[in-house]
Amino acid sequence: MKMKWAVEIAGTGAYVPERVVTNEDFTKRLDTSDEWIVQRTGIRERRIVAPGEGTLALSVNASRQALAEAGLQPEEIDLIVIATATPEHPLPSTACELQAALGCGWIPSFDIAAACAGYVYAMVSAAQFLDCGMATKALILGAETLTSITDMEDRGTAILFGDAAGAAILQPTDDPNKGILAARLGADGARAKAVWVPGGGSAEPASIKTVNERLHYMKMKGRAIYKFAVNMMHSLVRDTAEDAGVSLDDLAYVIPHQSNLRIIESAVSRLGIPMDKVAINIDRYGNTSAASVALAFHEARETGRIKSGDLVMFVAFGAGLTWGSALLRI
Ligand code: UT7
Repeated sequence: MKMKWAVEIAGTGAYVPERVVTNEDFTKRLDTSDEWIVQRTGIRERRIVAPGEGTLALSVNASRQALAEAGLQPEEIDLIVIATATPEHPLPSTACELQAALGCGWIPSFDIAAACAGYVYAMVSAAQFLDCGMATKALILGAETLTSITDMEDRGTAILFGDAAGAAILQPTDDPNKGILAARLGADGARAKAVWVPGGGSAEPASIKTVNERLHYMKMKGRAIYKFAVNMMHSLVRDTAEDAGVSLDDLAYVIPHQSNLRIIESAVSRLGIPMDKVAINIDRYGNTSAASVALAFHEARETGRIKSGDLVMFVAFGAGLTWGSALLRI
């Protein structure tokens, strides 16, 4: 959909846990190899939280960096939206806990559950609060402790995921060149069980049985999602650029969800976009779900890879199945 939300990025931040887990670490206890993991996924290492560290701690660190970069105090933030599939607690939202931890006022604070597409959902949602005047400084995050729902005995998923948080502060702008030029969000609930956690919700509350049957861990149909992801990434980028009336050559940078290097490579090669215009951090962090795009965006700003005036395409997909894209002139 073509639109013009006059928003700009005031600051970004990111945080990853200190503990690095390499592919070799997995080979010590699972029937896998560094070669298989690198060839099939592009992942070389990932970060895993320390005992007692969770999504809130990651979010606090990423948010403080974004606040410092924006030169803002916590009291100046008037909206918090966290995209997460792994909240600090089932209740309340991690956004409420973050509000108190940062020392913000009694501002609207909520989580978005759109899995790996969540950061794009959060960005699009916050932009609408800003556009209609209901907020002036929105703190958005993609924050995950994916390893808390990863079955470390299942080689098909254990090697894929990592923990991280990325934050951004959005604010309205008078600069006519900046803003979100187009965005698309979608979901296909018929494929809800392509990636899911069967236990611990209202359908099957936590019990000794759910623990014994490992139902609190993520189950994933990897192959089916692979095909969906390549096609969806390809069509979302193409259609979102078209909505905004820009050509793919005009894109300075594409920030895709980091689920698998091969998915990214095959989607962008079909689009004719060179890999040097594509953010990649899956080698260092694995799949960090909602955090992956947020983290890559912060890295791109921090390293000077993107600069004011650039057209940046965000694209993500995940459990739901969900998907989202946003084209931002920064
Ligand atoms: O974040 C959004 C949601 N998730 C995704 O986007 C994930 C999308 N899917 C993928 O990235 C890929 O499908 C995977 C990386 C998960 C798997 O790669 P694949 O090339 O699709 O492999 P596969 O599932 O078809 O499995 C091929 C073989 C199987 O063995 P057999 O049946 O051929 O004997 C698996 O059992 O590889 C085996 N395998 C492994 N071997 C060594 C699966 N995991 C491993 C492993 N190490 N870690």
